[in-house]
Amino acid sequence: MALHDRDAIRDELNASVFAGQDLSTALPKYRFPDREISPDHAYQVIADEIMLDGNSRQNLATFCQTWEEPQVIKLMELAINKNMIDRDEYPQTAEIERRATHMMADLWNAPDAANTVGTSCIGSSEACMLGGLAAKWRWRARQAAAGRPTNRPNMVCGAVQVVWHKFAKYWDIEMREVPMAPDQYFMTPQDVLDRVDENTIMVVPTLGLTYTGAYEMVKPIADALDELQAEGGLDIDIHVDAASGGFLAPFCTPDMEWDFRLPRVKSISASGHKFGLAPLGVGWVVFRDRDELPDDLIFHVNYLGGDMPVFQINFSRPAGQIVAQYYDFLRLGRDGYRRVHDATYATGKYLAEEITQMGIFELLHDSDSTTGIPCVTWRIPEGVDLGFTLYDLADRLRIKGWQVPAYTLTGDASHIAVQRILVRQDVSRDMASLLVADFRDALAHLTRHPVSVPMDRDESAGFNHL
Ligand SMILES: Cc1ncc(COP(=O)(O)O)c(C=O)c1O
Repeated sequence: MALHDRDAIRDELNASVFAGQDLSTALPKYRFPDREISPDHAYQVIADEIMLDGNSRQNLATFCQTWEEPQVIKLMELAINKNMIDRDEYPQTAEIERRATHMMADLWNAPDAANTVGTSCIGSSEACMLGGLAAKWRWRARQAAAGRPTNRPNMVCGAVQVVWHKFAKYWDIEMREVPMAPDQYFMTPQDVLDRVDENTIMVVPTLGLTYTGAYEMVKPIADALDELQAEGGLDIDIHVDAASGGFLAPFCTPDMEWDFRLPRVKSISASGHKFGLAPLGVGWVVFRDRDELPDDLIFHVNYLGGDMPVFQINFSRPAGQIVAQYYDFLRLGRDGYRRVHDATYATGKYLAEEITQMGIFELLHDSDSTTGIPCVTWRIPEGVDLGFTLYDLADRLRIKGWQVPAYTLTGDASHIAVQRILVRQDVSRDMASLLVADFRDALAHLTRHPVSVPMDRDESAGFNHL
């Protein structure tokens, strides 16, 4: 008599994961599953589902990194069980976070980079909230000391990313947003002067506008505020939202003054996971000096074995992204970052030239490192009817997997639809040439088959990265 049923064992060994019982039926979607399934089966079914998301590398909407060096992936694995907040338990990781903060203070020309303060966050959104909160606290202290009311704070900004709308709503701040105009997409010094008063907690220029990719002019705005102070005494702080530009301008446009070289700039936020090149899940806020972060905002948590100063909205947070960010700083240095980003800008320039040569579009930003981030933004010229919209073009490109968003501007320019390609390090020159070929095919198709009812914003697939 056989000791075991050989055929049954062979069946078990050879069975394709798809032939197993677990995957022979649809799994529960919205109620908590009753029974366990094997890890391989669970893995397969989830891997297959996220495959339907499309290919991140072809996502030309996102500013966030979609490619990492293998060493980063290894470091992320080593750090998978480290909680950033447990600084007593993981003192070296905490030290790495501190070092990275001071490196950025140095990169952004803080007067005493080794002694300033800053923190990692889950992304720029949290970093903006923290920079904005500190500005609100400083303003309140100034107003209280001068015996003035503190109940009507406002902030002045251009066409900001949605996080600033959240900030204004969550912390009860009047937002004085300079609306875009059809011929002007950014905030000018005069726009700022027209809106500030003694209740202005800060002015927020964006280094890399989400809508167009262009830099707002930090220095002219700071100069105008300096003059205002010299004339009337109103002293208004600047927080720079450098989500994208914070890791571009220092390497590719080092002479442009937008950072702590301008004394009025009190804090800067940036996304490590965008042009900082770290994997998703890290942003930073850095203060000009220790005094710009009011003590009252720092919580001293007596927890897990020691006094822990925290200035963050999240508590538990993965440490891997911070370790990876430090790896990028060490591995690339200023030279490496410049080389990576120069190549990205050059690919953007190539795309801008190709799109210009198509002869039917008007460029709003052409991946010029002196005026903005590596991206190309274009529109159909005013009054021109091509027989299709940019939404139709976006839809057509999606057939080949490319995600090239079309969306409208804002304010008084909200009737203008634009389309944008964000160029990241992994959008190589060769990949860009393949995109151009598909772009030309898409145009040829739309020209041969004009759309009888062109798609509008409401019908398009949507674009949620503003
Ligand atoms: C100018 C600007 N600020 C803030 C953010 C928010 O950044 P994060 O996605 O890192 O939270 C973005 C994101 O695109 C941005 O472009």
